[in-house]
Amino acid sequence: MTTSIKGDVRDISLSARGKDRIEWAAKDMPVLRLIRERFIKEQPLKGIRVSGCLHITTETANLAITLKAGGADLVLCASNPLSTQDDVAAALVSEYGIPTYAIKGEDEDVYYRHINAVLDHNPQLTMDDGCDLVSTIHTKRKDLIPTIIGGMEETTTGVIRLHSMEKQGVLKFPVLAVNDSDTKHMFDNRYGTGQSSLDAIIRSTNILLAGRTAVVVGYGWCGRGVASRAHGMGSNVIVCEVDPTRALEAVMDGYRVMPILEAAKLGDLFVTVTGDINVLDRAHMEVMKNGAIIANSGHFNDEINITELEKLAVSKRRVRDFVDEYTYADGRQVHLLAEGRLVNLSAAEGHPASVMDMSFANQALAAEYVLQHAKEMEPKVYTLPENLDKEIARLKLHAMGIGFDTLTAEQEAYLSSWESGT
Ligand SMILES: NC(=O)c1ccc[n+]([C@@H]2O[C@H](COP(=O)([O-])OP(=O)(O)OC[C@H]3O[C@@H](n4cnc5c(N)ncnc54)[C@H](O)[C@@H]3O)[C@@H](O)[C@H]2O)c1
Repeated sequence: MTTSIKGDVRDISLSARGKDRIEWAAKDMPVLRLIRERFIKEQPLKGIRVSGCLHITTETANLAITLKAGGADLVLCASNPLSTQDDVAAALVSEYGIPTYAIKGEDEDVYYRHINAVLDHNPQLTMDDGCDLVSTIHTKRKDLIPTIIGGMEETTTGVIRLHSMEKQGVLKFPVLAVNDSDTKHMFDNRYGTGQSSLDAIIRSTNILLAGRTAVVVGYGWCGRGVASRAHGMGSNVIVCEVDPTRALEAVMDGYRVMPILEAAKLGDLFVTVTGDINVLDRAHMEVMKNGAIIANSGHFNDEINITELEKLAVSKRRVRDFVDEYTYADGRQVHLLAEGRLVNLSAAEGHPASVMDMSFANQALAAEYVLQHAKEMEPKVYTLPENLDKEIARLKLHAMGIGFDTLTAEQEAYLSSWESGT
């Protein structure tokens, strides 16, 4: 199917390649496929205007197709200036009739023009990855609030921003924190970010990870994944943390843990995954070894203080795609990947479809849930009920052909009783 262009994409002629890649990802998204089949019959989103601000990838395209199959009137824009796959954006528009506003490498003006374009759709449901849509609505597009039923948020940083909005009493509609489902953060953040961040580092630099010292800053769900995959590739992993429990966990997982100022002198490769600001600051970059490589896989490009890096350097040049070489006055060179933007989506393709299958199953069920329960929901941050989270895990196991056990009646009674003891 070819429709007239609705949206703003780099090159509509890329759509055939985009469609092939979207279909390739679909093969590894069996849970989302089951939801799509049900949505086609039940039409739970019939006529609902949805504005989505997500990374425009092959997996997101499959989510969009599912929501549209469920009756949604959907428009999309990018949730990061560098994460768009231009062929996918083209295919969404011309093959699937989903208006999409996303161009890889767009500047901040275009990024916000695209956000405003999807908001002009007058959404009843919002779908965010990082809370830029919801924060724009609450600051600059308040007129839209009365007709918004609710929203969904994909990532840790977005959920943190929403909690802050709720706490300050400024959040005006309910939002489901998709990230907080176990079948999201335990898999997407850990295994997805773990694999795809290293994939991006390897694609952009072609370095050998074996024998290198990799410093992972932040040992949350993403950090655990990055550390374990770097270790698996033969790197000598150092973890930096501010949370004592997580620092201890990293020690017992077998990594060296130390203050970042010490690690800064030792690392060959640095990956930030904290959701925090300036975790790699001037003082750290000043002492780095010649040849050090710095990457961020946290949501925003705030984790590395690039302004200070620019000041430290006497020259800067692009030496490979997604690799900027900064030369200091004493001749040392450090390399920043993907301009400090989340490396896995900028310099590679983001998470593999198999793991996004669960994240986006959560998104689809969350959209349905918000519509079904809007009346009893307040302007707060909610999580998807545990039974739906477990159902996604069950369906994923089923799709993988893996059986598991259930409690016997005797065990169920035992586990819910207090009488039997020693
Ligand atoms: N690249 C991706 O595709 C992707 C996927 C999922 C999440 N994310 C993003 O990655 C970031 C981390 O997400 P998460 O789910 O792992 O969060 P998390 O809350 O589980 O972990 C973050 C960790 O960073 C630590 N931290 C905070 N400030 C620090 C500092 N100054 N120094 C050292 N450690 C510090 C925290 O103590 C915490 O343990 C978020 O921005 C999230 O939105 C990215």
